[in-house]
Amino acid sequence: MTEKPRTITFRATVPLQVQFPLPDGRTLMTPPPGAPERDLKQVCEFMTTVPLSVTFPLPDGSTLVPGPLTYNTDGLATQHSAAFAAEPEFAEAYRLGVRTGHNFGDDLHIEWRVFVACWAAWHASRLDGDFVECGVNTGILSRAVVRYLGDRRFAGRRFYLVDTYAGIPEEQLSAYERTQNLMHYSRLFYRDCYEQVKRTFAPFPFVDVVRGKVPDILPSVAPAKVAYLSIDMNATLPEIAAGEWFWDRLVPGAVVVLDDYGGPSHDEQRRSWDAFTAQRGVKVLALPTGQGLILKS
Ligand SMILES: C[S@@+](CC[C@H](N)C(=O)[O-])C[C@H]1O[C@@H](n2cnc3c(N)ncnc32)[C@H](O)[C@@H]1O
Repeated sequence: MTEKPRTITFRATVPLQVQFPLPDGRTLMTPPPGAPERDLKQVCEFMTTVPLSVTFPLPDGSTLVPGPLTYNTDGLATQHSAAFAAEPEFAEAYRLGVRTGHNFGDDLHIEWRVFVACWAAWHASRLDGDFVECGVNTGILSRAVVRYLGDRRFAGRRFYLVDTYAGIPEEQLSAYERTQNLMHYSRLFYRDCYEQVKRTFAPFPFVDVVRGKVPDILPSVAPAKVAYLSIDMNATLPEIAAGEWFWDRLVPGAVVVLDDYGGPSHDEQRRSWDAFTAQRGVKVLALPTGQGLILKS
């Protein structure tokens, strides 16, 4: 089916003054609304810059987010404050995260998602329990989290980083997921990065880089208490298996960050997580970043 072109109607919400540049350098302009006739010079003096608000109503009744935008990347456009991104502690954590040698290109901008992970980890650092990430790749989120918290907040706890470090095991994808090009995506962006990740985290003795396929590898990752669980495997089967494995180990107040929850192509993950949490009497908070957040109560 071909998509119909979208019609966009401009509707000014303030009275407009319009300028017409003339070939001889002068400018004709419409007088301000209600102003008496004046010569061109007087009209120029009268002219003020008016704040202009333009809306873009779309045929489906929605409206494009008007500017000024504070954030417009990674599927999210908003006028709301993104002041966290300029906070020096976060900016440095983010810089280190995106410099872990991933394959997504130089202009990757996922600041808000990384901030959610840093916030969740900071919250969890006030609880008793280890940290776990399933689905690490080069470690954008986990490297940022390690920096954002600093070594002191890892005293007495471990951070387990679990991944095949070689992409999604194809046989784990459902029929629906196979239609979403997830395997193509995996081959394009994930390569063997185990040695690289070990080098990235070598300065941090509290980090365990665990190579293996979820769920098979999980019996070797069995901390008694978990305070922070980040799940980002882009596939339903291992994600729900990780949820089942860790749920009873999560301490009260522990936080679970689901990176793919609301992402395009991940409907099956979202529905499975909704069913998973419903069975346990909690709810996923859908975030505008596409992530989902669960608090263990
Ligand atoms: C989107 S990436 C993770 C990105 C990472 N969170 C970051 O901050 O850069 C998904 C990762 O999940 C891993 N993965 C997918 N299925 C897995 C499974 N069953 N067991 C272990 N790792 C898996 C892939 O190897 C890939 O590295």
